[in-house]
Amino acid sequence: MTQPPLPEQTEQIEQAAQPEQPTCPVTHPVTHPAPVPLSGPRFHTEPQSLYREIRREHGPVVPVELYGGVPAWLVIGYHELHQVTSDPVLYSRDRSLWNQWPHLAPDWPLLPVVGPPAPSVYFSAGEEHRRHADLVTRALETVDPFSCRRACEEIADRLIDAFCGRGEAELVAAFSVHLPKYALLRLFGFPDGKGPELARLLNELVDGGPGARRAHAEWMAAIAALVADRRADPDAGLVSWLLANAGDFTDEEILLDIRDTIGAGFLPTSDWIGSTVRLMLTDDRFAAALGGGRHSVGQAMNEVLWEETPSQIVAGRFAARDTRLAGCAIRAGDLLLLGLGAANNDPLVRQHLTPAQSGNSAHFAYGHGAYRCPYPAQELAEIIARTGVEVLLDRLPDLELAVEPQELMRRPSAFLRGMTALPVRFTPVPAIGGIS
Ligand code: HEM
Repeated sequence: MTQPPLPEQTEQIEQAAQPEQPTCPVTHPVTHPAPVPLSGPRFHTEPQSLYREIRREHGPVVPVELYGGVPAWLVIGYHELHQVTSDPVLYSRDRSLWNQWPHLAPDWPLLPVVGPPAPSVYFSAGEEHRRHADLVTRALETVDPFSCRRACEEIADRLIDAFCGRGEAELVAAFSVHLPKYALLRLFGFPDGKGPELARLLNELVDGGPGARRAHAEWMAAIAALVADRRADPDAGLVSWLLANAGDFTDEEILLDIRDTIGAGFLPTSDWIGSTVRLMLTDDRFAAALGGGRHSVGQAMNEVLWEETPSQIVAGRFAARDTRLAGCAIRAGDLLLLGLGAANNDPLVRQHLTPAQSGNSAHFAYGHGAYRCPYPAQELAEIIARTGVEVLLDRLPDLELAVEPQELMRRPSAFLRGMTALPVRFTPVPAIGGIS
């Protein structure tokens, strides 16, 4: 079984020692500068200045090396990324096409990031994927946005109740990391009482430590138990809808689709909340909203999707045949990594554009094309994140950073962008008794 997509395991991998002399099995044309290692602190601290440099050196499509010298292409040009994501036949998501499988050690640490093919929405391709994406999209469309918003308000209030009397908190650990997880677990109908236990499993999974395999087995068992409960006792929720509308889907496929949907959703939404709060606390343009006004919360959220794209790099697409992209010779089976965060800042599209102010949402934060984040999932992400930020600002209107902005750290990952901690202070307020 695979892990949920985009695991934070990438952080541990990047912190681990790199082999002394990585060898690149691909022979890049001699005229190309050396491939760029896809790791190191600059990806975490100031990725955009790094992208500017490698764009100058390599152009919009960059030869890179993953852990252990495994070669790939990083697509950082807006137009080139559009081209790749718009052509799912030439740039397939069929992982079995990858020409590096024979060269990978079974314990290659980025395996969960690429993920072997599986009969699920995130790990399938072509017709098989359309079948999964259609089911997941139709299921998510049945969610009532108003009850989702209400549930998020309750969860946010409960989380804030736990620290609002103290006058200080670390908002990532106390708030942003939890809200999307609890919201998605509630959405799928997991009993509230199981929330903390399941949230712990999801944490263990994305941490990728020694307990990840066991956590994955327990998480799948919890999903299986939920599916069995709903089969025995249908209700008006998402899982009952899935069971009633799944046609020829096997139980395993339904389980994997639930796993992938929750797995794909909670981390980027957590990072969206954390980065939005950071922006609003550090940038004067958003100061008005902190007094209780809400109009610029949406602007800050949109700016984060452009500038602090939570899924910075997605792995990826696989060339179905030899081709050329932006002058680069792409071989059949080459892996193309989607540089969503870099493409959002491509100077060719950004020179006349101030996206956040204009409300322009032509960013790549949700991907593009056949495998983009499903539209109803984007809407749910927006409800969860916006509700979280608004409730936080309503409850703690004089919220301010407790450290200097330059002390704030991002995730140590080239793939995911978000805050590791957000220490804040505020005037203590009483708990209001959100649901327990
Ligand atoms: C800010 C929040 C989110 C961001 C930035 C985000 C971003 C993405 C990206 C970049 C992809 C992959 C696109 C690709 O491979 O081309 C994706 C796929 C996906 N996301 Fe999201 N996502 C977010 C929230 C959510 C939420 C809340 C859910 C679930 C309710 C969700 C469900 C999915 C699913 C099921 C896929 C796989 C789609 C497919 O392969 O057809 N996402 N998302």
